[in-house]
Amino acid sequence: MNGFKNSAVYQIYVKSFCDSNGDGIGDLNGIRSKLSYIKSLGVDYIWLTPFFPSPMVDNGYDVSDYTAVNPMFGTMADCEAMIAEADELGMGFMFDMVFNHTSSEHEWFKKALSGDPKYMDYYIFRDSVDGKAPTDWIASFGGPAWDYVESLDKWYLHLFDPKQPDLNWENPEVREELKNVIRFWKDKGVKGFRFDVLNLISKPASFDLPAGPAHRFCKDGWHVHEFIREMVTDTGLEDMVTVGEMASTTLDNCIRYSNPRNHELSMCFSFHHLKVDYRNGDKWALMPPDLVSLRSLFKAWQEEMEKGGGWNAVFWDNHDQPRVVSRFGDEGKYWKQSAKMLATFIHLLRGTPYIYQGEELGMTNAHFASIDQYRDVEAINYFHILLDRGETEEDALKVLGERARDNGRTPMQWTAGKNAGFSEAEPWIGLPDNYGRINVEAEESDPDSILNYYRELTRLRKESSIIAEGGIRFLDSGNEKVFAYERLLAKDRMVVVCNFSAEEEKIADILPEGRVVCGNYADPPLHSDKLRPYEAVAVEALQS
Ligand code: GLC
Ligand code: CA
Repeated sequence: MNGFKNSAVYQIYVKSFCDSNGDGIGDLNGIRSKLSYIKSLGVDYIWLTPFFPSPMVDNGYDVSDYTAVNPMFGTMADCEAMIAEADELGMGFMFDMVFNHTSSEHEWFKKALSGDPKYMDYYIFRDSVDGKAPTDWIASFGGPAWDYVESLDKWYLHLFDPKQPDLNWENPEVREELKNVIRFWKDKGVKGFRFDVLNLISKPASFDLPAGPAHRFCKDGWHVHEFIREMVTDTGLEDMVTVGEMASTTLDNCIRYSNPRNHELSMCFSFHHLKVDYRNGDKWALMPPDLVSLRSLFKAWQEEMEKGGGWNAVFWDNHDQPRVVSRFGDEGKYWKQSAKMLATFIHLLRGTPYIYQGEELGMTNAHFASIDQYRDVEAINYFHILLDRGETEEDALKVLGERARDNGRTPMQWTAGKNAGFSEAEPWIGLPDNYGRINVEAEESDPDSILNYYRELTRLRKESSIIAEGGIRFLDSGNEKVFAYERLLAKDRMVVVCNFSAEEEKIADILPEGRVVCGNYADPPLHSDKLRPYEAVAVEALQS
C-alpha cells in the first residue's frame, strides 16, 4: 500500500474538462483526447468526479445508477477505452464512489417510497416526534435534513439535498450492494477509488439529539471504522489507492483511517485548513485568511499524522473550493509567484499531492457578476439565505464570488480561442475573462510558466526520496507570514520556506547552506534574512 508515496494525483471535474461532441459539457472522450497532456504533468493517478447516471441535482454527486455511464458523458465503451488508454500511458483512474447517499431517482429509493420494506431499510426512515421531524437538523446545502413522505407517514434523512437520501449502512445488504459496485469497477481496470464524505456513513444509534448542522452529529460515527475495514478487506482494496473525503474530522480518526495497520484507506482528505477564512466558522461570512491558524493546522496535521503512521492527501483546490490563487495568493501583480509558492508548499509536504484541473495553470475564481451565472445548488440556496439574513444583493454576490463552489467549476482553459478551447458550443457554465492569458497553450510555450513549475514539482517527488518518504518538522521562521518546514530522511535534510505575503518579509536564519532544489524566483537568495513577495525556496542541506 506504500507504492503511492512518490505519486501525484490529478483531479478532473468531468463536466468542465473537455467537450468532445460540441454540446457544451465535458465528457469521457474529451478526457481521452487529453491523456497525453495529463501524462505530461507527471501524475500517476486521475481522479474523476462522478459520471454515472444522475439527475444532476448536485452535478453527479446524486447517483441513480452506480454501474453505468451517464449518456451526457459518454458510453461504457468510451469508459473502457479511456481506462485502457490511460493504462498504456502508465496512469490509473480513481473513480468517485458516492456511498453516503444515492439520488432520490435511484431504483432503491423509488422502491422505498412505494413502501417496499426491504428498500425502506436501505435508507433512514423515522416516525414523527411530536408531529415534527426526529431532529432539528440543518442539511449541508441549507434547509432541514429530514423530509416528510406523506404516503408512508415517515421522515427520511438527507445530510445534503432532499434529492440525496442517506443510505443505511447498518443494513448489511446495503454494504453488500456497495461492495458489488467496487467489484464492478475493479473488474473494469480502475486502479483506485475516492470515497465521497466517507466519514458520514455511520449515523447515531438514536436520534434523540439537539438541533444543529446534521453532519456534526454524523461525522466519524460509532461504526465508521468497522464499515470501512469491512468494505476494503472484502473487496481487496488494500492493494489499491484509496482516499476518503472526511468532513469535519479529527486527527485521531484520520490516523486510524489511514494507518496501514488498520486495513482501512491509503489516505484522507481533511478540510480544516480551508476554513481559516470563514468568519466564526461560517463559510458564508468573509474574513481574510488567518495565517497563524493556517500554519498551526498544517504543522499539527503533518507532524501528528507522521507520528501516528497515517498519510495525508495534500491539496488546496478541488471542485468544492474557490481557486487557491484567488484565495491565499494574488490574482494580480504576483499571480505567477504566488501560484508557484502555493504549489511548492503543498508538493514538498509529507503526503500525496492532488492537483485539481486548472490549478496547474493558476486558474482564478470565476468573477461572476449575476446570480444567473451560478449553477450550483449550494450557491443558489445560499444566495437566498443571505438575502433572507438581510444582506444586499451586492453583498451576497460578493460572498458567492469568493465562496461558491462554481468558482472552481468553470471550464478548463486550453487555449486563448473560443470558449478557451473547452467546447465548440456555449459551455454549461461561464468562464472568467482571463483565459486569453491563462491557458495551457500559452503556458506550454513559456518555460517559466506555472504549468512547467508543477511539472518540476512532480518530477522532484519522483526523484527524491526525502520528498516522497522523509519525515517532517515545522520550523519557526520568526515571521508568521512565512511558513517553513524541514524534511528529514536518514542524514538528509531539506528546508522549505514559503512567504505567504505580498511584501518582502524578514526571516530568521533558517536556510541551510546547500543546493537549491527549487524556487519561484530566478536566482533564489541563500542565507538571506529576507524573502521577496510570495517567494518560495527549497534547499537541500550540505552533508556536514
Ligand atoms: C462531497 C463532494 C461534493 C458533494 C457532497 C455531497 O463533499 O465533494 O461535491 O456535493 O459530497 O455528495
Ligand atoms: Ca460533451
